[in-house]
Amino acid sequence: MKTQQTSESAKKLEEMFAISPYNQLALSGVAPIKDIKIFDTTLRDGEQAPGIALSPDDKIRIAQALDSLGVDIIEAGFAASSDIEQSILKQLAGMKLNAKVCSLARAMPADIDKAVDSGVDYIHTFIATSDLHMKYKLKMTPEQVKEKAVAAVEYAKSRGVEVQFSCEDATRSNMDFMKEVLLAVQDAGVDSVNIPDTVGVIIPRAMGHMIAELRKVLKVPISVHCHNDMGLAVANTLAAVENGASICHGCMNGIGERTGNAALEEVAVNLFANYGVQTVDLSKIAETSDIVRRVTGFGMAANKPVVGRNAFAHESGIHVHGIMNNTATYEPFLPEVIGAKRHIVIGKLSGSHSVEGKLEELGVKFPAEHMPELMETVKQLSITGKEISDPELVALAENIMWKKQAGNRTVALNELTVVTGRSTTATATVGITKPDGSKIKVAEIGVGPVNAAVNAIRKAVNQNITMEEYRLSAITGGSDAMCEVAVTLKNVQNDEALSFGRAVGPDIVETSVEATMAAINRDFSRVAIRKKEC
Ligand code: KIV
Ligand code: ZN
Repeated sequence: MKTQQTSESAKKLEEMFAISPYNQLALSGVAPIKDIKIFDTTLRDGEQAPGIALSPDDKIRIAQALDSLGVDIIEAGFAASSDIEQSILKQLAGMKLNAKVCSLARAMPADIDKAVDSGVDYIHTFIATSDLHMKYKLKMTPEQVKEKAVAAVEYAKSRGVEVQFSCEDATRSNMDFMKEVLLAVQDAGVDSVNIPDTVGVIIPRAMGHMIAELRKVLKVPISVHCHNDMGLAVANTLAAVENGASICHGCMNGIGERTGNAALEEVAVNLFANYGVQTVDLSKIAETSDIVRRVTGFGMAANKPVVGRNAFAHESGIHVHGIMNNTATYEPFLPEVIGAKRHIVIGKLSGSHSVEGKLEELGVKFPAEHMPELMETVKQLSITGKEISDPELVALAENIMWKKQAGNRTVALNELTVVTGRSTTATATVGITKPDGSKIKVAEIGVGPVNAAVNAIRKAVNQNITMEEYRLSAITGGSDAMCEVAVTLKNVQNDEALSFGRAVGPDIVETSVEATMAAINRDFSRVAIRKKEC
């Protein structure tokens, strides 16, 4: 059973949207839109997308997700295409989902039998009605096509299932002929008729006009199936709804033949936001989209509306500032509507508002006086195109706080050159300024670049310092991940005192050197205090 929205919860949901006031003005002449059914074809037209092939388990996983999302009909495959497909449909039909399970069938008895015998309760049968398809693909006359359509519907109805009939390539079919075919299948007992924009070639105004024309003559519900070849699938679906269509075909994440079908999540969000029609459980959209993306292995552009990675991501300082004051400034609806989360992305365009907001979101209390230093680090890192992840930002912030607590540095590294390679001995040259202001340059070799650099620093500063512990960890995954280095040095001349140093950065060698310098400075300040005490 679909969860019924109470008017109170619908009101709450409405408040999460900040859409244009012109939408309601523009719709003032449109008859109220009430019950819209969602016909999901992710597992049929969606699977027809080149690159997608679903196993029985995959289909079951997706069907369960779609069912819990609350779609009304799941077109789960094309039974006549193979025995495996028919057996998957059998399994799905036996799962007792809330949604009706449907199989596609060409307008021929053999296909219809395969579909009905798989146990589904709904058949979607089709034949092309455009001159182009009738002449070049079917090689049939319009009369033959009409006959086949009627015979298919009569036969499918005689087998006791719900039947939807589609005029394939409807948007390039002759209107009078289409009306003739559709009225004939209506007389034959069809439950609904579908108008596919098979090649995605119609514009919304024309789709609206077509549906309005058909609505005038037909009694049965009209469905619409839009492809996205020209980027208009969702707009065409909505235009059809405005003009009397009451069943919307679509695929999750907009997958489907070629450039895909109308994205179900976009249709559902628009139906609610602009037409006040609740179809699926909007709060499950993000989760369902994710399941479909993972199971099909079909990636999605970051800027895909509603469910793309960037749909609720903000980087530029101006936008983040706006969002922090009122999310409606730069979001059409709250991410919670679809069960998603907002992301503040720290990158090249981030301002201090973004960084402050992000740290607050991550629960880090960062002193305002250190913000300029953190911002400078963030800018330097992101200038190379690096997106700073949440754990990396936390590590950078903590590192700055640690550095401040560690006190002033009296030993400074002015130069670092490291040479390394496969058949080359790792060699490092460092230039150091000592506490008394004298400068020194030293070169050393090592078993690797880090070892060579640390050896050179020890040689330049104090040979009595030994490396007791060295820990390196990547903060996140990826080859551009930042690393965190922690070192403990021992001063064998100074009661074997231990000094700890740490650093965070994008380069392992530089970060290791930075951590070593931090520890050396701690050791030096301790030695200086002892000298004063003496
Ligand atoms: O796009 C289309 O025309 C189809 C038919 C099978 C309805 O998918
Ligand atoms: Zn299609």
